[in-house]
Amino acid sequence: MEDRFGHRISYLRVSITDRCNERCSYCMPRELQEWLPREDVLSYEETLRLIRIAAGLGVTKIRVTGGEPLVRRNVLDFVREIPSISEIMSLGISTNGTLLSRDVAGQTMAAALRAAGVQSINVSLDTLDRHLYAEITGRDFHAQVLEGIDAARTAGFDQIKLNTVLMRGRNEDQLISLLEFAAERNLILRFIELMPVSTTEVLSDKNFLPVAEAKRAIEKQFGALIPEQNFRTNGPATYYQIPGRNQRIGFIGAMTNLHFCESCNKLRLTCDGKLRPCLGSYLEFDIMKPLRAGANDDELRQFFIDVVERKPEQHDFRNNYQPDRKMIAIGG
Ligand SMILES: C[S@@+](CC[C@H](N)C(=O)[O-])C[C@H]1O[C@@H](n2cnc3c(N)ncnc32)[C@H](O)[C@@H]1O
Ligand code: SF4
Repeated sequence: MEDRFGHRISYLRVSITDRCNERCSYCMPRELQEWLPREDVLSYEETLRLIRIAAGLGVTKIRVTGGEPLVRRNVLDFVREIPSISEIMSLGISTNGTLLSRDVAGQTMAAALRAAGVQSINVSLDTLDRHLYAEITGRDFHAQVLEGIDAARTAGFDQIKLNTVLMRGRNEDQLISLLEFAAERNLILRFIELMPVSTTEVLSDKNFLPVAEAKRAIEKQFGALIPEQNFRTNGPATYYQIPGRNQRIGFIGAMTNLHFCESCNKLRLTCDGKLRPCLGSYLEFDIMKPLRAGANDDELRQFFIDVVERKPEQHDFRNNYQPDRKMIAIGG
């Protein structure tokens, strides 16, 4: 599948739930969230059917996300089916890490995910300060996340990524300690710019911290970062090596990098069956409707092609974007 601007779509991010055991302010509104009723969420069978169709159209990479994907029941049974789709070369999961060390039939969730065929894990961690963590996420789960990261390492995942959302005045003094934390554990740390995907007040000039500023702060300590042009992970991050160390870090400058969308190869499927061609656009297309009305594979295939045809050239975040659907309900 190729869109009008030459983006070849090979990456589908699949959200399997809008529920979460945390409450990050930048992702979901503080006020009590109404979860979707069960019947409005795609079943695993429905989701797998859509993944198979996407795979037939050139998708080779799947990332399972949410909400928090590990809170959905029987997630392992679902995940286990994905590698059997022959076109899928890469399977990853994005998690807040809180449940990775949980015991599942005598092994950790992390080990069970690996046994189920998951190849890469991204864990969100914005701070090493337990109190700040609780403030940001609304939950006192810092220790569980650290245990979860250890469980992922013990399970043998390599290239575990740590995702840190940059927030001025909140975690800007955490950058170096996070970097050291990642170095000690051989994790790839990535700094992400805050995007307007929750309530409007989350993103203001007051709390926005551009990746360029984070990069400067790190360079002040370590010297000029060395660009790694050849290292790509199918995602939008730009990667660097820290001089004098064998450590890679990434920056995801969705707001300030004007070339951010040029290499976009992504499509999103929300848990309630909407295909979204771009995170930063209101466009979304209800594929659950034809799916449940009995559409055949050819019709669903055409649906995918039509959505890709309407993929915008770039996101709208810089145009005073007012979020509609919250990040938690899209799938980050
Ligand atoms: C929506 S979460 C879903 C997966 C999982 N619950 C987690 O936290 O990793 C995926 C990623 O989106 C990021 N995210 C959420 N809201 C964001 C925002 N407003 N700006 C930038 N990144 C955001 C999170 O930090 C996380 O790394
Ligand atoms: S960022 Fe992840 S952990 Fe935080 S509220 Fe959103 S889905 Fe939950």
